[in-house]
Amino acid sequence: MELKEAIEKRKSVIGFDKDKPLLKDVFDVINSARLAPSSKNRQPWNFYVLSGKEKDEMVKSFVEKLSQNQTEATGFGSARLMNEAPYVVLVFMDEINGYEDIAVNYLAVGAAIQNALLTAKSLGFDSLWIYDLVHVIGKQLKEKIGASGNLVSAFCLGKDAFPDKRKVQKRKLEDVIINFKEIKNELE
Ligand SMILES: Cc1cc2nc3c(=O)[nH]c(=O)nc-3n(C[C@H](O)[C@H](O)[C@H](O)COP(=O)(O)O)c2cc1C
Repeated sequence: MELKEAIEKRKSVIGFDKDKPLLKDVFDVINSARLAPSSKNRQPWNFYVLSGKEKDEMVKSFVEKLSQNQTEATGFGSARLMNEAPYVVLVFMDEINGYEDIAVNYLAVGAAIQNALLTAKSLGFDSLWIYDLVHVIGKQLKEKIGASGNLVSAFCLGKDAFPDKRKVQKRKLEDVIINFKEIKNELE
């Protein structure tokens, strides 16, 4: 699949079916994340691949914590999807040393995750970017795994159970380019 098609077809799934991507494809996905641009080429990311029992235990402790804290009501949907997905990849981000704003590392990690999701789509499977678990069990997972960075996101990998359904509408091109009206004549 061409990049443009992968960009257009990638969507956050609302249900995963039972098909499990090959581990080699999961490695391909993380390899593409590794190649993303980053400020000062810091590559401030590390990944941890969860599947099977280890994934089930993570989701269980997430749900337990959510149940104790009613303010995180949206997390239950993410928990169901992490349960269904054959793989959940945790994304850790190094802390900034020096004067730069932490945002610069977040931007780089976002680029890495998007590389991963597009590669997944191009290899014929699907994904869901998850943030919900960060505040709920981020610290717990960091300690358990012994990661040097902080948990900043996760993404699920698997096969879309509802390929014909799209959850969201996207804003139009003319609504996202601030000076669209002024420059559009140059197209003609
Ligand atoms: C930083 C970030 C965090 C997200 N966190 C969650 C999440 O915790 N749970 C979830 O179901 N979706 C999450 N999403 C997916 C968004 O809901 C989704 O990308 C958005 O609705 C647009 O839909 P699309 O991905 O199908 O284009 C997240 C997306 C991003 C970029």
